[in-house]
Amino acid sequence: MQRFIKSLQNLFLPKINGNTLAITEDNENQMQKQIQECRDTHDVLLSPSVTYFDLAEPAMESQWDEYIYPNIKNFDLSICLELAPGHGRNTNKLKQYAKEIHLVDVNQSCIDACKERFGDKNENCNFFYYVNDGHTLKEIGDNMIQFVYSWDAVVHFDKLVVKDYVKEFFRIMRLGSYGFIHHSNYGKINSSSEWMKNPGWRSNMTAELFVEYCDEFGLQILKQQIINNDLDCISIFSKS
Ligand SMILES: C[S@@+](CC[C@H](N)C(=O)[O-])C[C@H]1O[C@@H](n2cnc3c(N)ncnc32)[C@H](O)[C@@H]1O
Repeated sequence: MQRFIKSLQNLFLPKINGNTLAITEDNENQMQKQIQECRDTHDVLLSPSVTYFDLAEPAMESQWDEYIYPNIKNFDLSICLELAPGHGRNTNKLKQYAKEIHLVDVNQSCIDACKERFGDKNENCNFFYYVNDGHTLKEIGDNMIQFVYSWDAVVHFDKLVVKDYVKEFFRIMRLGSYGFIHHSNYGKINSSSEWMKNPGWRSNMTAELFVEYCDEFGLQILKQQIINNDLDCISIFSKS
């Protein structure tokens, strides 16, 4: 009888077997590998006094005018979360519209560069700095952020990393707030996690997956714009 009851109970146990555990472990390893690679490749000097970020800085003006400002100009940017700011070329633009910018990057060197560039207060904007674990926003409180922003960084992040961040966006965003994330669409061509072999180091993320993650975690997609010869996607979403 006891054996019979046990077998009935087993029918209702969550279906976690050796296989699913192995997949979860593989995903965790894959995610940590990608976070480390992406962190380390953005923490190097190209020559004794030149970083990647110095070379990227001049392109900001045209990217802001063409892709960014037209998409965000009607949003309330007062309390902004910028994910992966690098050395702050976007921050320098956002600060004209924000009262607070919370900067989160996996690299201490990037956060240090932003601290040096902006300090605690610059013009009318207050700055807050965090080095994170590369996939969560634990340092940011619930329902605190009015605008979530990232440009030219999430394009490299593995889909597993993006999924964790989308979950966190829902947690930190206020009701009625918006987000703007520039991410890869190259997963449509190649879903391999070997992101550094792909053009422009684009990851296995896609526009469709971003919609799926938003649906799963309770965010609403307002617009997606495919750019850069289909390599990238801008996703604009809200928490309503
Ligand atoms: C190509 S740079 C872009 C920086 C900045 N957004 C810009 O447009 O100049 C990529 C940035 O992502 C950061 N990063 C890489 N992986 C990350 C992760 N998993 N989570 C948070 N930041 C990450 C790097 O430290 C770097 O600052």
